[in-house]
Amino acid sequence: MVDRVAIAMTGASGACYGLRLMQRLGQNGVRMHILLSDAARIVLKHEAELVLTNEPKDWGCQLADALQIDAASLCTHALDDWFAPVASGSAGIRRMVIVPCSMGTLGRIAHGLSGNLIERAADVQLKEKGKLIIVPRETPLSAVHLENMLTLAKLGADIIPAMPGWYHRPHNLDDLVDFVVDRVLDHLAVDNPGAKRWGV
Ligand SMILES: Cc1cc2nc3c(=O)[nH]c(=O)nc-3n(C[C@H](O)[C@H](O)[C@H](O)COP(=O)(O)O)c2cc1C
Repeated sequence: MVDRVAIAMTGASGACYGLRLMQRLGQNGVRMHILLSDAARIVLKHEAELVLTNEPKDWGCQLADALQIDAASLCTHALDDWFAPVASGSAGIRRMVIVPCSMGTLGRIAHGLSGNLIERAADVQLKEKGKLIIVPRETPLSAVHLENMLTLAKLGADIIPAMPGWYHRPHNLDDLVDFVVDRVLDHLAVDNPGAKRWGV
């Protein structure tokens, strides 16, 4: 049973993937630690028309309202809250998803910079051999982006690009978003009986 997951959203395009993942986990009764970069909030406003205040403590209710999930499932943290449980391996949180993940955050994690709580929490997952799932979004990819992804894959991170397949013949945008989110849920080992599966 998956109980606690850290979910970070950064300033890459594809806010819909992060929002949908939060919604699906909330519907499954999974408690989440939520981390949002400043750029993530700019993208949320631009792509999802979701305007969050500057106060991290308000984000739980704002996100829960937008996603129609229980606010109690969301615990939000400021990016300099080094006392948050995700900042230390001793808290025992062993799952984290960064969705969408910008090339900037991805590069900083690949090089162990840990300059904010997202990067630190990811570093904790790597050092503790926890499950770190990264959903990068950029196109085209430069050699720097590819090398940083390879570095992270070699360190044990799961790289699940925001790159939906078309073989389930999607009918709408939700189907495409769910394609990526279903793969993330599989890698988190969250029960997901509704997922479309090849050959089944
Ligand atoms: C609407 C919008 C879309 C963006 N899309 C991407 C993207 O797909 N990938 C990316 O790496 N950066 C993208 N950026 C740029 C990042 O937001 C920027 O590099 C930022 O510094 C990332 O900061 P963060 O890693 O702290 O979130 C986008 C910015 C905006 C405003």
